[in-house]
Amino acid sequence: ELGSLHGIPLYKSFIEGWPQVEAFQARHDDLLIATYPKSGTTWLSEILDMIYHDGDVEKCRRDAIFNRVPFLEMNAPKIPSGVDLGHGWGCQSRGHIPLSSPPAGIELLEKTPSPRLVKTHLPVQLLPASFQEKGCKVIYMARNAKDVVISYYYFYQMAKIHPDPGTLAEFLEAFMNGKVAYGSWYEHVRGWWEKRQEKQLLYLFYEDMKKDPQREVQKILQFLGKEVSEETVARILHHTSFQEMKKNPAANYETMPSSLMDHSLSPFMRKGISGDWKNHFTVAQNERFDRHYQQHMAGSDLCFQMEV
Ligand code: A3P
Repeated sequence: ELGSLHGIPLYKSFIEGWPQVEAFQARHDDLLIATYPKSGTTWLSEILDMIYHDGDVEKCRRDAIFNRVPFLEMNAPKIPSGVDLGHGWGCQSRGHIPLSSPPAGIELLEKTPSPRLVKTHLPVQLLPASFQEKGCKVIYMARNAKDVVISYYYFYQMAKIHPDPGTLAEFLEAFMNGKVAYGSWYEHVRGWWEKRQEKQLLYLFYEDMKKDPQREVQKILQFLGKEVSEETVARILHHTSFQEMKKNPAANYETMPSSLMDHSLSPFMRKGISGDWKNHFTVAQNERFDRHYQQHMAGSDLCFQMEV
């Protein structure tokens, strides 16, 4: 069951932690990675961590991605003692103290040295004010709605914080009506798109990254004002390919306790392609989705590729 944060459906534990998130003090050199869920957040995070470490693969294996790039609004529900915590919260041992729940995003961020990478799924209107006050750069990555809804459907099943998604047909309805965690995809992608002139914002697309990752990585480098060698770019591209990330325990979320993520139901690194919706939507569902999509994207110059 989800609660509501300023009209946006969200996990209740995240809402409980909201006052601290809203008051979060960004640092001027924080880089914010913003996405609607299932849009390639982890992929972009790994690319950025590699850029920040000059393509050093070993440094990027120092910890799990969710510790290297803290999730701003994350606040885990308390886990009853006695529940199997699997391997702990990351790749590295955190001493002998058993943790009953992972640290909240803002706790992790306080301990993270600058320059920090910060992940969020918040819609633009809920972003804590200090990111704008401090002039932080933001990279937003969007993915086409049809692939997002399929990816989200599997994620709802494997990530236990979610309510039961029901059938795909039911989940499609919920998604179209914005009744899933983080609310309406349409409002999210459009909200961030419309703010891109005001902020130091680079707006990227998952489909472009699939099509020409080298060009997209160059865009990121230019946005960050960084120069790296061709060899380093090649290493970044190799290390952040779907095949490499799928087998990398520091990137594939397999170190999360199985009580929180059950990869046997669906792996976090599921398919990593564009156009998988075609394997799931019926013709009727697709027609209905297209009609709804056109209504909700009317008047926007934001365009998506539905496959690559
Ligand atoms: P699928 O479920 O379609 O496979 P997020 O990180 O925002 O939760 O997004 C997860 C989606 O990104 C999943 O999509 C996952 O497989 C995909 N993904 C993760 N790493 C990727 C990579 N290196 N290349 C392509 N897709 C990737």
